[in-house]
Amino acid sequence: MKKLAIITGSKGGIGSAISSKLVEENYRLIATYSTGNYECAKRWFDEKGFTEDQVRLFELDVTDTEECREKLGLLQQEEGTFDLVVNNAGITRDGQFKKMSSNNWFDVINTNLNSVFNVTQPLFAAMCEKGNGRVINISSVNGQKGQFGQTNYAAAKAGMIGFTKALAAEGARSGVTANVVAPGYTGTPMVEAMREEVLDSIKNTIPLKRLAKPEEIASSVAFLASEEAGYITGETIAINGGLYMA
Ligand code: CAA
Repeated sequence: MKKLAIITGSKGGIGSAISSKLVEENYRLIATYSTGNYECAKRWFDEKGFTEDQVRLFELDVTDTEECREKLGLLQQEEGTFDLVVNNAGITRDGQFKKMSSNNWFDVINTNLNSVFNVTQPLFAAMCEKGNGRVINISSVNGQKGQFGQTNYAAAKAGMIGFTKALAAEGARSGVTANVVAPGYTGTPMVEAMREEVLDSIKNTIPLKRLAKPEEIASSVAFLASEEAGYITGETIAINGGLYMA
């Protein structure tokens, strides 16, 4: 029988690579997309050549606590208890702190960090009851080292790391592990949206002198989700080309 997984931000650069990898690993995947974006999600689904048995597109506003509680409760009744939760949805609203609007602060905290509560909590109790499960949170090198222009993003991404360690402590007695994957600068639309000269200067500081490939992030998610990784919990796997060595 297929294992059941959910991923937020499924069709983004890293999310899309993780989705493909999990399908390859024979998961049934619930792929969430944001409100009103069905057309775009369906296009992604078709382009990837997924079948409905492999991937179910699922509209979810990950910033809305009540909506997540209701919809994920019903989803669990339909699909069963989850084996894997991947919190991947994330946005950037970069800008120097002295000029940062409160909207740019709260939008990033809501989408990148509060979403982790909203999505994980409705699913976690059943995973504990079943006695096994995996939670994998996609953080960032910038949550580990900080970054000029990203007080909001770094706060959210660092918050995910603290959350994961605490959840790992709580889940351990029930066989549920929680881990973080912290990508560095990866070849995705999010990174490509940066000003060229800023991105070039960052690339120069990366010891491996290149961006990560989304597939290099996805394979570590698959590893952490696997049976072989059953003894790893509360850990952060950094995949950043040497940009930050914790
Ligand atoms: N350290 C110290 N000073 C810096 C700096 C740095 N890293 N970067 C810029 N500055 C300085 C500049 O030298 C400049 O100084 P002067 O005024 O003395 O010339 C000043 O700060 C203003 O710099 P900018 O012209 O860049 O300022 P801006 O307001 O036009 O732009 C910004 C600000 C949008 C934040 C821009 O600096 C930027 O895009 N920075 C990169 C942010 C970043 O790394 N984002 C990652 C997005 S991808 C992602 O987040 C995925 C992931 O997980 C890795």
